[in-house]
Amino acid sequence: MQYQANDLEQHWMPFTSNREFKADPRLIVGGSGVYFTDHKGGTVIDGCSGLFCCPLGHGRKEIAEAVYQQLLENDYASPFMTSTPGAFELANRVARITPDSINHVFFVNSGSESIDTALKMVMAYHRARGEGHRTRFVSRERAYHGVNIGGVSLAGMVKNRETFTSVMPNVVAMRHTWNPDELFVRGRPESGAELADDLARFCETYGGSTIAAVFVEPIAGSTGVLVPPKGYLERLREICDEHGILLVFDEVITGFGRLGHAFASQAFDVTPDIMTMAKALTNGAQPMGAVAVSDEVYKTITEAAAENAIEFFHGYTYSGPPAACAAGIAVQKIYDEENSFDKAAQLSDYFLDGLFSLRDLDCVKDIRGYGLLGAVELKPKGAPGALGTQVQKDLFWNGMHLKFTGDAGIVAPAFVAEKAQVDEMIDKLRATLEAI
Ligand SMILES: Cc1ncc(COP(=O)(O)O)c(C=O)c1O
Repeated sequence: MQYQANDLEQHWMPFTSNREFKADPRLIVGGSGVYFTDHKGGTVIDGCSGLFCCPLGHGRKEIAEAVYQQLLENDYASPFMTSTPGAFELANRVARITPDSINHVFFVNSGSESIDTALKMVMAYHRARGEGHRTRFVSRERAYHGVNIGGVSLAGMVKNRETFTSVMPNVVAMRHTWNPDELFVRGRPESGAELADDLARFCETYGGSTIAAVFVEPIAGSTGVLVPPKGYLERLREICDEHGILLVFDEVITGFGRLGHAFASQAFDVTPDIMTMAKALTNGAQPMGAVAVSDEVYKTITEAAAENAIEFFHGYTYSGPPAACAAGIAVQKIYDEENSFDKAAQLSDYFLDGLFSLRDLDCVKDIRGYGLLGAVELKPKGAPGALGTQVQKDLFWNGMHLKFTGDAGIVAPAFVAEKAQVDEMIDKLRATLEAI
């Protein structure tokens, strides 16, 4: 299948160099297991589960059939004041795998919407407690929380925010946790827990009682897999408890088994008050996200409203539409039946061995990883990110799809990948990096 540049002009592609892409398009026309087919008929191994959302691989019949059947049976019903059984069943299944205290699930369409929704829940919670004066939010440098105005306000990546200046005020960023003096750390770095004391300093500077919530990705994913130092998340939890601040974990990438447990919260044994999630909730087969909250947050908000009144003035036309719920239910069933999260845990060592074997390459600056999530960061050549963009393209034509952020390639195999397929990913990475 060949495409002319003119055929491609109308679609304004997201987070893409449109002019470059349209001159040299890379279209995916098929997907099965851990492989894609490109428009020239080439086979491309998927090194990052699509965009970290397809841990069960591509083309799963069970998911497609569940969606098809659901669309025939009932394609849509308003989620406001009516609902569908699937939304309750999926919420129930998600609540079963979240930490014990987190049992209430609100559906959205994406990770970005989950962040906006979580921000509003935080505001509603404090207002319900008579603490509406908590107007400050804390985030972190190098954070990615999606692209809606809420997420951009919390973002710690300069390119994602410098153009968009009219965002939420009153957000302060803690320092990120990557330490240039501690490279090639596999798992959690030993040092750096004290970076969480940035939050304590904000409490001293602004008053802990003015801070509403802290948003962190347990592992900062999109910015290049920054694994939290030992003790860091625990310390954040302590400081939040001391000052009545809500702790929000953005589990959009880490959720649903990526770290070998259902959520990072369980992998690191730290329980937040609110968790955002998306991506692997439906294996990427339908757009969907969710926010799961503690009983305390749910009860505080709902019980503050007058009897029979709407408690939370928020929701989307597509808050849990039937087809997305059907996809989600099918996916959660497969996770159970195939013990997918245990499989991810079992494959992790093999994957990290392979990834860290690339450290001998001259072009590699750092490697990080945990579970089935890792990053190979390259020494920049020219402008920051220029080399990453080039390597991403070269890799594609060498038969591997990988997401790069700047000069860091983020590797996240599907949980269904065989060891031989992990080898194939590492071999392709090595061959491509040796050629630059
Ligand atoms: C941690 C995190 N939060 C939020 C988002 C935004 O999700 P979406 O692209 O579905 O809006 C992402 C996307 O990669 C993410 O990694």
